[in-house]
Amino acid sequence: MLNKKIAALLNDQINKELYSAYLYLDFANYYADEGLDGFAHWYEVQAQEERDHAFMIRRYLINNGIRVEFLAINKPDKVFESHIAPLEAGYEHEQYVTSLITAIYHEAFEQKDYKTMQFLDWFIKEQGEEETNAEDMIRKMKLFGNDAKGLYALNQELAGRVYAPSTTGPAM
Ligand code: FEO
Repeated sequence: MLNKKIAALLNDQINKELYSAYLYLDFANYYADEGLDGFAHWYEVQAQEERDHAFMIRRYLINNGIRVEFLAINKPDKVFESHIAPLEAGYEHEQYVTSLITAIYHEAFEQKDYKTMQFLDWFIKEQGEEETNAEDMIRKMKLFGNDAKGLYALNQELAGRVYAPSTTGPAM
């Protein structure tokens, strides 16, 4: 059985991950509306990954005897003034999610809950990758996005992202 505080934090993190999926689908809606289908596709894949993160945490709680309780998911309410704005909002959001995961990790450390620390190791690594991806996209957009041909090429590149469900995943 998990410590109550850690269980509550993880339960809340399910909501944050589902919100992330919702947020990125909203980014995809924006790009689809702008005619940038490659960007839209990239965020659709990202939304699928976020949903997977929520499922992983839900499964971990269930496997540890916790009754999961769903919370309401907030409405994504960002208005974008430029094509780079969602990319910047995405990077900011990932930094926020990293801070949440780190806080749960810290609590697990305090409680000597090595099992949850091991479970969260995967998420710590994943957050590192997601922040790097978000930064890369901003850098590319700044380099190439201001020119129609560059934006077209970038859109084509992002259209190639393949959704690959994690085969390893975290330790349960
Ligand atoms: Fe599941 Fe992007 O954090």
